[in-house]
Amino acid sequence: MTVNVKEVFDSMTYGPAPESSAEAMAWIKEKDGKFGHFINGEFTSPAKGFATRNPATGEELAIISQAGKAEVNKAVSAARAAFPKWSKTKGHERAKVLYAIARLLQKHARLFAVLETLDNGKPIRESRDIDIPLVARHFYFHAGMAQLMESELPEAEAIGVCGQVIPWNFPLLMLAWKIAPAIATGNTVVLKPAEYTSLTALLFAEICVEADVPKGVINIVTGDGKTGEAIVTHEDVDKVAFTGSTSVGRRIREATAGQGKSLTLELGGKSPYIVFEDADIDSAIEGLVDAIWFNQGQVCCAGSRLLVQEGIAEEFYARLRKRMASLRIGDPLDKCIDVGAIVDPVQLETITNLVKTHGGDGEVYHAPCDMPVEGCFYPPTLITDLHSASPLMQEEIFGPVLCATTFRTPSEAVQLANNTRYGLAATLWTENINLALDIAPKLVAGVVWVNATNLFDAAAGFGGRRESGMGREGGWEGLAAYTKPKTTAKKLAPVAPIAAPKSPVVDGLDRTAKFYIGGKQARPDGGYSKPVYGPKGHLLGHVGIGNRKDIRNAVEAAHKAAGWAKTTGHLRAQILYYIAENLSARAEEFAARLGEMQPKSKKHSGKAEVEATISRLFTYAAWADKYDGQAHGVPIRGVALAMKEPVGVIGALCPDEAPLLGAISVMAPAIAMGNTAILCASQAFPLAATDFYQVLETSDVPAGVVSIVTGDHADLGKTLADHMDVDAVWSFSSTPDLTATLEAASASNLKRTWLNQGQARDWFGKDGEGREFLGHATEVKNIWVPYGE
Ligand code: NAI
Repeated sequence: MTVNVKEVFDSMTYGPAPESSAEAMAWIKEKDGKFGHFINGEFTSPAKGFATRNPATGEELAIISQAGKAEVNKAVSAARAAFPKWSKTKGHERAKVLYAIARLLQKHARLFAVLETLDNGKPIRESRDIDIPLVARHFYFHAGMAQLMESELPEAEAIGVCGQVIPWNFPLLMLAWKIAPAIATGNTVVLKPAEYTSLTALLFAEICVEADVPKGVINIVTGDGKTGEAIVTHEDVDKVAFTGSTSVGRRIREATAGQGKSLTLELGGKSPYIVFEDADIDSAIEGLVDAIWFNQGQVCCAGSRLLVQEGIAEEFYARLRKRMASLRIGDPLDKCIDVGAIVDPVQLETITNLVKTHGGDGEVYHAPCDMPVEGCFYPPTLITDLHSASPLMQEEIFGPVLCATTFRTPSEAVQLANNTRYGLAATLWTENINLALDIAPKLVAGVVWVNATNLFDAAAGFGGRRESGMGREGGWEGLAAYTKPKTTAKKLAPVAPIAAPKSPVVDGLDRTAKFYIGGKQARPDGGYSKPVYGPKGHLLGHVGIGNRKDIRNAVEAAHKAAGWAKTTGHLRAQILYYIAENLSARAEEFAARLGEMQPKSKKHSGKAEVEATISRLFTYAAWADKYDGQAHGVPIRGVALAMKEPVGVIGALCPDEAPLLGAISVMAPAIAMGNTAILCASQAFPLAATDFYQVLETSDVPAGVVSIVTGDHADLGKTLADHMDVDAVWSFSSTPDLTATLEAASASNLKRTWLNQGQARDWFGKDGEGREFLGHATEVKNIWVPYGE
């Protein structure tokens, strides 16, 4: 080919600049193109399995073994056997192992990058400059976490064996996000890569041998969804971490319900990309290239929903189409390529069908790029004029397809942005920092990027809200998912109400305690109530039996009180102090009443319970303005602000052991952090909570911030867990076997659950309050703000 320099200057076209695949292909050939599993520090012999292909050419790369139950059992046993020693290994020793892995990853970075691109189809520029460096960064960062764990998290310990299932879009990066925090904190793992992209995980296994990772600490088994299911449901797996589609995430929630496993899910998204009319348009368009064409749009946090302010929409679309036309699509190993191959023909078909079926809702523009003749490619696509209810605006396409609509005002932008069942990420572009920092907290998302997009770092947590999943990966907050508080769990015995005596003593008037909903006393919808007796046979009163409708009313009231989330910590502290003050004024009466309703406790008198309750209110009044976020030192010129936000509406089954102290131990952290709380009073001793609403009524608590309902915990809990507008369910009930039902029902909208798993908690001691409660009452949102001219 002769090159005419003048022509090149005129057209500014790129020539081909392919990266060699020789080393990666030689590595595969060395293994005869067949791979076994990595269990207990060794590779098993290759077994029956499936082919993994290069999506850019369709060429078979290798045969990957399919793990069945036997292999999964073997891997879990190896992880279990390695756990006691590894979890007790000094943090510094664990740090050295993570550091060795990081160094080796860097040493073999080019091989990893090429192998990733061959197997996944992503441009080599991305695997080389983004994926692999971030993988190494994750291991370095978590080497530091291992080093610091003993001094910084003295109350935390490893959970146990972690079952980890990852997707194909960032194969090695997702492996790093899962394995690094798990082993840093002393857990052992069984990880399954996605069936389309197992190769870099297997190369990583070799690195583990080189880095002297003790046998059994890291196990990698390959296979499809069935293998994944065998791992996540395995009875000896203590913690499950999954990244992938929302539908599989929901199935995992259901399949693991009641197994006592800790669970984090990082699922799909339909993240808004909001462009205000004062934005730097060129930058916003360049940002879109990263938001939706990075990794062919196969990114859970892809900015796939473009919202443009009406005044600039036409111009913006025109300039965007022009930019799209210059995108280069083709051989992912070519360093000049912007858009590579879609991971598999199945995924290509999904994208093609979604656009074919629903594209007609708007105007479809396919970039007129030169398309490769073979392989799995889809052109960069923009679909404008979509209605916000169109399936393309609601469903995750997971391809290079950008769906767009317009908005007029900032508040409409927020409304449209939040009009989705997801809540993973959001991007906003404006030159007005006041507007940006006003909008960012209003977006329902775990991550917000201001004038930038798709920024990731090990120091900043990543994860979603709503159906985008639960839990965070990265940062200090990510460690919470791999540790548990050091406690010696004791089984919680059911606390029964006092049975009806043969001849009850009835003094004075028989009072029926009402519910407390929306700041008012409310009669039970069903009109049913039941008597409550004291240990000496006295009829203490009646309490209502709450039903579905009562819970619905409480949820409605809680949503009407959403303004509570926007109040200051100072105001919430004042109100909590005021509640404490009003309880203190009636301390004797409450102490006597607690004495009347419960069998005499050797441990704690009614007086002691009231005093502990007042102290607890003080604790959370203290925390209300002190449980701060952080400014993460991420490697950009800018800052990532980790803001603590309330979870939303929390429905809680209150403890039976200490009916007043327990209810307040649940209510106070929830409302201190800006949540609204629906308390289902102790089933055994409900009058403690219903008496308490008189205190709430006189303490300036806005209507709907706290509701109190009485009744059967199993019924009320199930209704709360089923409810689509409840964000979290907590249970400290002593009613046995609620966990399975509550966890399974919570899959409906993937609400957060915090359940006692049948274990007792000392409500009078330090386990009854503190950071664990505050952590469950908050979500972290990372707002990335680059700065500088
Ligand atoms: P997927 O969710 O089925 O696969 C992810 C991983 O889960 C794979 O390792 C798979 O083997 C495993 N898996 C599948 N079924 C399982 C089960 N019942 N129990 C345990 N593990 C199981 O994703 P898939 O089918 O590859 O892609 C389908 C759609 O999912 C995509 O079009 C995209 O919309 C979405 N997706 C979203 C991702 C994200 O990061 N948000 C990542 C991958 C896919």
